[in-house]
Amino acid sequence: MSTESPIEVAVQRLRNGNVVAMPTETVYGLAGDAMNPLAIRRIYALKGRPAGHPVIVHLGTNESPSDWGEINQTAQSLIDAFWPGPLTLIVRKHPHVPNEVTGGLDTVGIRMPAHPTAQALLNAFGSGLAAPSANRFGRISPTTAAHVSSEFGSDLMVLDGGPSTVGVESTIVDTTSAKPAILRSGGITRQSIIDQIGTLGTSQTVAPGTLKSHYAPLTSLLISAQPDIDRERLESEGLQVAIFRAPPINEHARTLYSELRRLDALNVDVLIAEPASDDGLGEAINDRLNRASHKFSTD
Ligand code: TXA
Ligand code: MG
Repeated sequence: MSTESPIEVAVQRLRNGNVVAMPTETVYGLAGDAMNPLAIRRIYALKGRPAGHPVIVHLGTNESPSDWGEINQTAQSLIDAFWPGPLTLIVRKHPHVPNEVTGGLDTVGIRMPAHPTAQALLNAFGSGLAAPSANRFGRISPTTAAHVSSEFGSDLMVLDGGPSTVGVESTIVDTTSAKPAILRSGGITRQSIIDQIGTLGTSQTVAPGTLKSHYAPLTSLLISAQPDIDRERLESEGLQVAIFRAPPINEHARTLYSELRRLDALNVDVLIAEPASDDGLGEAINDRLNRASHKFSTD
């Protein structure tokens, strides 16, 4: 019988250039050795993601972010305030960071996750792990180990760290432009970023996470502040409808993706989702709902 712990088994697989799924406080990630181009190609192949999309490098608390890129004052200030946690920084990369990680850009996304299992894995591995969310390209991000296994089958090793406590992806801040900018809203609010570093600019960079259609269930999704009225209208057309009512804002992000998965599995014709209120993680939640609903919109 093997006496190796799951973390030791995972580290061995990573050292061999293989992929394992790890929990983080935002969503589960498909992790591979960030310094091994073949491992990154395996992640892309597994996800069905088009090549050329950059992936985030995850760092252990023993790791030094300046080993990966140039940490300017803005980046350092955000690191001091929000790491470890749900914040990714885009910084100028050092030459040794593989093109497979950055999609050929001269920048790299780095993040130090707070999840204890992610940290145990990263510190045992002793270097950066590239990890996109552990879902097939364009689909709903996973917030439990079971979500990951349902998507990739039992051949993929998943470290089970329980349900993700934040529930939406990290906020991405581009620190390389004269005025730092948010590329993707997420687990740290815009206001918290502004409180830390002052006013923000707009970025010219287009991140693949800003694709209009993303995070999508298979069922058409309609966002509506009057779900009961819309339900009546759609049902009168003979359509089957399920409603995703907005929970209190402090639970909304955490339950968003598992509720979308559950409702998607009902196989109704239309899901109606109530938008989140504007406080807290509302911006990130509404961003994800908008991308999930794109298929339904007529533009
Ligand atoms: O919370 C998260 O960030 C999760 C967990 C697993 O850490 N990861 C995640 O990864 O959401 P992914 O690959 O699904 O989304 C990463 C986003 C993409 O939109 C990508 O374009 C952007 O980060 N990104 C990564 N490196 C970048 C770079 N150098 N410049 C601009 N955008 C970058
Ligand atoms: Mg993703």
